Amino acid sequence: MAVKRFGILTSGGDAPGLNSAIRAVCRTAAIQYGMTAVGVRNGYRGLIENNCFELSGDDITGILSRGGTILGTSREKPFKNPEPDGEGLLPIDSIKRTYEIQKMDALVCLGGNGTNTTASLLQEEGMNVIGLPKTIDNDIVKTDVTFGFHTALDVATEAIDRIHSTAHSHSRIMVIEVMGHKAGWLSLYSGVAGGADVILLPEIPYDIDSVADCIMKRRDAGKEFSIVVVAEGALSRDEALLPKKELKKRRKLMPYSIAYRVAHELEEATGLESRVTVLGYLQRGGTPSAFDRVLSTQFGVAGAHFLAEEKFGNLVAMQNNEIVAVPLSEIAGKVKNIPVLGDGNGVEHSMIAAGRGLGTCFGD
Ligand code: F6P
Repeated sequence: MAVKRFGILTSGGDAPGLNSAIRAVCRTAAIQYGMTAVGVRNGYRGLIENNCFELSGDDITGILSRGGTILGTSREKPFKNPEPDGEGLLPIDSIKRTYEIQKMDALVCLGGNGTNTTASLLQEEGMNVIGLPKTIDNDIVKTDVTFGFHTALDVATEAIDRIHSTAHSHSRIMVIEVMGHKAGWLSLYSGVAGGADVILLPEIPYDIDSVADCIMKRRDAGKEFSIVVVAEGALSRDEALLPKKELKKRRKLMPYSIAYRVAHELEEATGLESRVTVLGYLQRGGTPSAFDRVLSTQFGVAGAHFLAEEKFGNLVAMQNNEIVAVPLSEIAGKVKNIPVLGDGNGVEHSMIAAGRGLGTCFGD
């Protein structure tokens, strides 16, 4: 069965590079293989609601450098607590119906861990699915990199640089919160790139006294300010002892994000003035960097070739600068965390080792 017509959707948080990837998949599929692309609006929700349209050449012109996604996105998870609709159809039944109505021979799903986990389940349900690795969190296993990460890294690094000068002028502790609930790649890389004095990651539970100690030592050495980069999923040693569900519940009840708590605790422990900046959605929006345009184009072009070669059930991944096919079932439900000594594998990521070499405090 040669693919003549395929669906394409973007799901999960938006990220720079989505439009360049859509353009690359659709253009290569049309030019090299004469395929027709059907755009699915708003992620898996559009697949459930049959909210689709044929993508013309005009739709994908001029979008290489545009942020967001022309297809729209949502965090719809059709296999999580599925409820029947008015007609008694479960989300998966509606999805299969759309796939048929739209005469799709295959489906390309652009997204992070949640998206590719769903993509794997759709493949198991008999659809022909290909995944593309998008996320600013860079936390998909078996791919060295995801598109969106490098743009977010550039944005976060520039923010840290700008905050550095205010930290210096006012002799303050500046706490900067960077995205990343489960994995701290963005915090680690932006922290190293921005010369942070402290980097707190979900992978290394922190002890606030050890952070305060590091800041006071800097003070004693004549350094009046400190830059503290905190991943939004950073957690204290006490929190690390809690069962995951309990931790999630407590975090939900916290009326402010983690950076505020860290800043407050540091002010109490050191007596020094602290300020907070939460970078939030600035990290996800806007034009992709040149690196991400190239990367998402490479992934997208390969995605079209995967369609033609019927490499269904695979993620287009990058390993050692080579595009490879990784079975979606091997990445479903997993998160790529930063290797740390505490995870029991006895290996510490080289960037953490580099930070330690520079005297960066990781809160342990
Ligand atoms: O896209 C991943 C991510 O950026 C996480 O780092 C962050 O926790 C999450 O999205 C928040 O996104 P939203 O508010 O859109 O659910």
